[in-house]
Amino acid sequence: MNRRRFLASIPLALLCAGAGQALAQVPPSAGLRALADRKSFRFGSAIDPEDVGNSIASQMYIDNVNSITPRNQLKWNATEKMPGVFSFGPADQVVGFARRNNMRVYGHTLVWYRTPDWVSAINDAETIRAAMNRHIKQVVGRYKGSIDAWDVVNEPLEYDVPDLRDCVFRRLLGDDYIRMSFDMAHEANPDAMLVLNETHLEKKSDVFEQKRVRILKIVEDLVARKTPIGAVGLQSHFRPGLDRIDPEGMGRFCAALKDMGVGVFITELDASCHFLDRGKVPTPVSYAEVFGDVITIAAERGDLKGATVWGMSEKYGELDEKDTNPGAACTKRVNLYDENNDPRSSIDGIKRAIEAM
Ligand code: XIL
Repeated sequence: MNRRRFLASIPLALLCAGAGQALAQVPPSAGLRALADRKSFRFGSAIDPEDVGNSIASQMYIDNVNSITPRNQLKWNATEKMPGVFSFGPADQVVGFARRNNMRVYGHTLVWYRTPDWVSAINDAETIRAAMNRHIKQVVGRYKGSIDAWDVVNEPLEYDVPDLRDCVFRRLLGDDYIRMSFDMAHEANPDAMLVLNETHLEKKSDVFEQKRVRILKIVEDLVARKTPIGAVGLQSHFRPGLDRIDPEGMGRFCAALKDMGVGVFITELDASCHFLDRGKVPTPVSYAEVFGDVITIAAERGDLKGATVWGMSEKYGELDEKDTNPGAACTKRVNLYDENNDPRSSIDGIKRAIEAM
């Protein structure tokens, strides 16, 4: 078949759709990656394997970040659903994408209270210790050459109470499960930066101040026992209308970590307007403030190792997890681009913060 006949055999609508997609959609690069590279700053985003296979979405990551975090694919629930049976297909897709595009990969996460049922059903210390050890060794070891930072323990404290969270690891091993997890990860990859990741530490309230105090105490104990902790992760999921950054409290916290030789990492930066009623959507300026300020405070007061946003575009993004408020101002979490792939002012805030470094 010659070329003309071949083209004629393709339905017109298909040709137009293909051309339209190629031409239309990738928004012009916001230049965040070039800026971050110039400043030697690790700037990343969470990504899903579906985005890797989407030519428009994937280009937006390539243009804007030099680091990616597989959103769900490295969680225990994804990698070891059955005892000792590991699967890495979706994680490998993301890691391969990073390698092809010269990006770093941030691993999320090893020990978290949300585990497969078989893990939470364990009821003796030796079995849970062995399960942790096997899990951490397999996962960290497999990606030794490609993942250079890990959230080792995720959310060790309760969300709105400054106490250690009840979970199978703590129930059977005591508070020491945190130190054990870090030691196991360090053994599997001595070069990786190991992070303790927690919620709300950047926000204003008495309870969150008490969470900062609690985390500092945990880190102090780890450092005293020469446990290799590289940074504390500040998740930074903002709920405009509900949370405010606490520049003073957060700044003091970052500085105290720095004094102990421990860094900070902004690990999951995004905003939810689920708690906001329609008509009270924050002005574009306030997204610039939220996204920019948290990075600026961490950089000015702490030893900031990098920042990651928890998604790139609301067009491909997930619905807000607890979307039970029928009057909510929006249903997607706010990232860098809106539902039409138009840039949000969060980009301006992040630029301002990285420029100032
Ligand atoms: C969330 C993901 O974004 C969702 O896709 C998934 O269904 C649940 O987990 N803190 C964390 C992340 O450490 O792992 C969570 O990610 C968001 C809150």
